[in-house]
Amino acid sequence: MASTATRPPEFMWYFVTHDGPYPWEPEGRRRIQLEDVRALASAMDRLPYTGALISTTGHNTWVLGAAAAAMTKKFTPLLAIRPQFISAAELANMAVSFDDLFEGRLLINVINSESPIWRQHGIWLENDERHELHAEYWDVFNRLVAGEKVTHKGRYLNIENAVANPWIEHYRPHIPLWFSGSSPGALQVVARFADAYLTFAEPVEQLREKVSTVLDLAGEHERRPRIGLRASLIIGETDADAWRKADRLLHATSRATLERKLGVITRGGNAGGTSVTQSRIFAHIPDAGLEAIRSGRVPDSARDLAADDNLWPGISLLQQGPPMALVGGYDSIAERLKEYQAAGVEIFILDALPLLEGAYEFAEHVLPKFNLVPAQA
Ligand SMILES: Cc1cc2nc3c(=O)[nH]c(=O)nc-3n(C[C@H](O)[C@H](O)[C@H](O)COP(=O)(O)O)c2cc1C
Repeated sequence: MASTATRPPEFMWYFVTHDGPYPWEPEGRRRIQLEDVRALASAMDRLPYTGALISTTGHNTWVLGAAAAAMTKKFTPLLAIRPQFISAAELANMAVSFDDLFEGRLLINVINSESPIWRQHGIWLENDERHELHAEYWDVFNRLVAGEKVTHKGRYLNIENAVANPWIEHYRPHIPLWFSGSSPGALQVVARFADAYLTFAEPVEQLREKVSTVLDLAGEHERRPRIGLRASLIIGETDADAWRKADRLLHATSRATLERKLGVITRGGNAGGTSVTQSRIFAHIPDAGLEAIRSGRVPDSARDLAADDNLWPGISLLQQGPPMALVGGYDSIAERLKEYQAAGVEIFILDALPLLEGAYEFAEHVLPKFNLVPAQA
């Protein structure tokens, strides 16, 4: 691990159509149009970010990713994709086209999400079965991208003579697949297929253990995925400034949102499922804070929902995105990120709201502490 801690990590940002100071409430949300996409994409190219995660919430990931890539030179979109919503052969067609037109700038973030979302798409598979499907699907996808003609008869896929776009030269023989998930089934798929493994922020010791489990499992397949951390940031000049921002966000959030999210926490997942990842994070919200909200009272201070001086699982009661935020002054945030780096994290995927202003603030005040400096105009 020591060698990775000496190099600056890779920083990515978040790219979504729900933006604004607190986009989980209608009055805190900006409608993002094409010109806003251009502004954010250009900022990514200009600032020391390599690209951005595009999630399934908001505009379709392919449409948004292609628009942003066409507006930029270096920006690499990490597109959230669920297998089997599109056939493996068609996804491989799309991926090799994108990668050819944008010269190797495609990254795929493989999404498992939760059963109710799959059922919306007519797929009635539970978590463990979906992981078996992932294994078949991504194996077929990789072979197609590599230029193979694929016939495959498995438990979930039955494919004859598939090829991925034979009319164009494939820019690369492999398109990186990034994965997440903490359930045992997810980790088995990660071990076999992940080029990078992404996790939400957790206390650093807990994260270190997770990283070592993932690397050990992948090692059994002679693989070594890179490790990425996804977290929201609430930042300011000092810790006190940042926590005041967190207080404002908590108090700008409606009772309806808090109650809905509390229900999600009680059930253990966004879509009413049982997400291992989310349960690991919800466990860090102090009981007294949860109890206050349950009895109809919003805690005065965001710190009543904090796990420690800078980790705020309280954000899971507000936003749809990452269930853990890092709250702190520029120095504290840099220190915490360096601790994660020392625990094995090589890629940070971050956001601070609003996304454009947050991208500049983080790049101007925190990235220089990693010897990364925004390019001059
Ligand atoms: C970095 C990251 C990004 C994610 N993006 C999405 C997304 O765009 N859409 C979605 O439905 N779920 C998303 N998820 C949720 C995961 O697909 C998965 O449901 C979650 O990690 C729980 O899996 P587990 O029960 O195996 O822990 C994301 C998770 C992580 C860590």
